Amino acid sequence: MLQWRETCTVLALMVSAVFATTCRAEDGIYVGAEKCKNCHSAASKGDPFGKWMGEKHSKAFAVLSSDEAKKTAKAKGIDDPTKAADCLKCHVTAFEAPAAMKHKKFDVTLGVQCETCHGPGSKHVEARLKDEGDDDAAATKLVELPKGEIIGMPTAETCFKCHNKESPNYVPFAFNKFLPTIAHLDPRKKRPADYLEKIPADSKDDPKAVAPAKK
Ligand code: HEC
Ligand code: HEC
Ligand code: HEC
Ligand code: HEC
Repeated sequence: MLQWRETCTVLALMVSAVFATTCRAEDGIYVGAEKCKNCHSAASKGDPFGKWMGEKHSKAFAVLSSDEAKKTAKAKGIDDPTKAADCLKCHVTAFEAPAAMKHKKFDVTLGVQCETCHGPGSKHVEARLKDEGDDDAAATKLVELPKGEIIGMPTAETCFKCHNKESPNYVPFAFNKFLPTIAHLDPRKKRPADYLEKIPADSKDDPKAVAPAKK
């Protein structure tokens, strides 16, 4: 795991002229959802990995091979949507980040992965492995993370980067209506029972948005 930090540090030096703000050592690199699975799939912790597997973000790359996607692409003069930047930029994680910021095993076919919303995870994975060892699945104690290790509460702004009218199949989006569909809250954290219903409206919400059905 150590090599990720070293990799990022070296890369940060190499590309600092261009990407000074995108690959600071404390940001780390994108490692992919498979790396989050070990520690984030216990039901007692809300099973974020399992929930993500069951919702559309994990299929956002696969959907680019559908007939609907081909139709959408054709209308824009695109032959293969699975290879087109105009589609990939919203259907996979960190498409626009330099290759240097992705682990060599980073798998784009997993679609819109954890790190799309939580930011590059290498630093967090490295710190947690060092802290607790590899087999963390059985741990029950809620660990308080140092500030800045990983983004814990992504904002509506994160979502609007993709859920906007540039999407050829745009569906009206509102943060507080869509978040409950993909929510993966940790039941060990004390929150009011109606927490998800009480998320405040965002000024950029589409007034036409309707909550998508929960899978
Ligand atoms: C070695 C174990 C381990 C791995 C691997 C791991 N995490 Fe974590 N993660 C933790 C622990 C421990 C916490 C603190 C909460 C808890 O005790 O479960 C945590 C908390 C989080 C939080 C909540 C942060 C907050 O401020 O509330 C997020 C988000 C998160 N992890 C995302 C990820 C992502 C994304 C990946 C994969 C890139 C990942 N984790 C991989 C152990 C891990
Ligand atoms: C589309 C964006 C998105 C994706 C993809 C995503 N998350 Fe999250 N995640 C969020 C948001 C938003 C929250 C904060 C919810 C809240 O507190 O209301 C969150 C919260 C969390 C938390 C903290 C839970 C809590 O109760 O505070 C963990 C841990 C976590 N996510 C892990 C993951 C892992 C692991 C994956 C991938 C398997 C993942 N997330 C994929 C948006 C996302
Ligand atoms: C990188 C781009 C991207 C980001 C960022 C993103 N999404 Fe998505 N989202 C997608 C794509 C693409 C789909 C459709 C995937 C498919 O149909 O297979 C989708 C689908 C969804 C769906 C399913 C809608 C349905 O009809 O079932 C929900 C809910 C959703 N997103 C909520 C969110 C929320 C909430 C956030 C922010 C916390 C967010 N998304 C951030 C790209 C993104
Ligand atoms: C600006 C971001 C963005 C771009 C660019 C984009 N998409 Fe999407 N796409 C989304 C989001 C987000 C969704 C989920 C519906 C919504 O809210 O727009 C989606 C949904 C879809 C769906 C519907 C899947 C379903 O579950 O019914 C298809 C098919 C699709 N996109 C194909 C494409 C193709 C092909 C391209 C390239 C020509 C493309 N998209 C470009 C963001 C984008």
